[in-house]
Amino acid sequence: MTAMSRVLSGLQPSGDLHLGNYLGAIRNWVADQDAHDAFYCIVDLHALTLDIDPAELRTRTYETALDLLAAGLDPERCTLFVQSHVTEHAEMAWLLECTATMGELRRMTQFKDKSAGKDSVRVGLFTYPVLQAADILLYDAERVPVGEDQRQHLELARELAIRFNHRFGPTLVVPEASIPKMGARVMDLQHPERKMSKSVASPLGTILILDEPADILRKVRKAVTDTDGEVRYDPEAKPGLSNLMELLAVATERTPEDVAGSYARYGDLKDDAGEALVELLRPLRERREALAADPGAVATLLAVGAKKARSTASATYRRAAEAMGLLAPG
Ligand code: TYM
Repeated sequence: MTAMSRVLSGLQPSGDLHLGNYLGAIRNWVADQDAHDAFYCIVDLHALTLDIDPAELRTRTYETALDLLAAGLDPERCTLFVQSHVTEHAEMAWLLECTATMGELRRMTQFKDKSAGKDSVRVGLFTYPVLQAADILLYDAERVPVGEDQRQHLELARELAIRFNHRFGPTLVVPEASIPKMGARVMDLQHPERKMSKSVASPLGTILILDEPADILRKVRKAVTDTDGEVRYDPEAKPGLSNLMELLAVATERTPEDVAGSYARYGDLKDDAGEALVELLRPLRERREALAADPGAVATLLAVGAKKARSTASATYRRAAEAMGLLAPG
C-alpha cells in the first residue's frame, strides 16, 4: 500500500464559523480525512494579529475546536490541534522570514486590505503569510484545501519552499493549493460584491454554521439581488442572485447553470436555497449541542492532536534548521 498523501489546512479562531468557511474549506477537510493523512490546525498565533481580547481568544479557540468536530472532523481520522501548542510553528516562521523578502510580503493583497488607511500596522500582520507557510511546510503537506482568498498565500508558501530547496538542498515539500470548483468564494448576502467574512460585521449578510433555521431562512429571503427579474447565472452582472444559485447548487450537488434553468422567479429560488442550507447545516447544529455537553473531552483530544503534530513538525524543523547551518543540539 502506498503512503497516504499529506494534507494540511488552518483556520483562525477569530469568530463564529460561517458558510464561507464551511463550503470553501471545512467541508473539504471532512472529505479528505479518509483518503489522506490530514492535519488541521486552529491558528491562534495568526489571531494575535487582530485586536482580540485574551480571554475571548481562549474561549474562541476552544469553541472553534467544537465547531470543527460538529462539522465532521473526526480525531480518529485526522490530527486536529492548536497551532501554539506546537512551538515549531513560530521557530519555522523565523527560518522562513530569513528567506522571504519585504517586497513579496508587501504584495500580499490581504495585507494591503487589512493595513489600508491605518497609521500603525503590526509587524505580525506583515509577516502573517510567512507563519502560514511555516504551518504548511512543517508537515510536508502536498495539498492545502482552502478557499479562493488564500490562493496568493499558497503561492508564497510554494515559492518559499522552492527557494529554500534551491538554496539549501532538497528539504521541504512544495505544496499545492486545493480550491473547490464551487463554494470557493461565498459572497456576503447583503453585499454580494464582497466575500462573506468573519472580520466584517454583516449580521444579515453572513450565515453562521450554527444559525437557527429561522435565521437562515430570513437571511436568504432578505438577500440582495437585482431588479431586472431575469433568472440567469451571471456572477458578473448578477452577483447576488448568482451567489444564491451557487449556494443552492453546492447544497444539492447540482451546477449553478442547472439551478438557473429550474426557476422563473427569484422568490422560489430563495425559498429553495434557504431550505437547502437549513438541511445542509442541520446535522452540524445537532452535533454541536451534543459536543458542548462534554467539554473535558475536547481538551484531551487537542492534547493528543498536539502530540502527534509535534512529532512531525519537530522532525521537519530540525531538517530545515540543519540545512541552514544551525548547529544540531548535542
Ligand atoms: P480563515 O480563518 O480566514 O478562513 C478559513 C478558511 O475558510 C475559507 N473562507 C472562505 N471560503 C469561501 N468563501 C468565503 N467567503 C470564505 N471565507 C473564508 C478560507 O479560504 C480558509 O480556507 N490564513 C488563513 C488561515 C491559515 C491557513 C494556514 C490556511 C493559517 N495557516 C495554513 C491553510 C494553511 C485564514 O485566515 O483563514
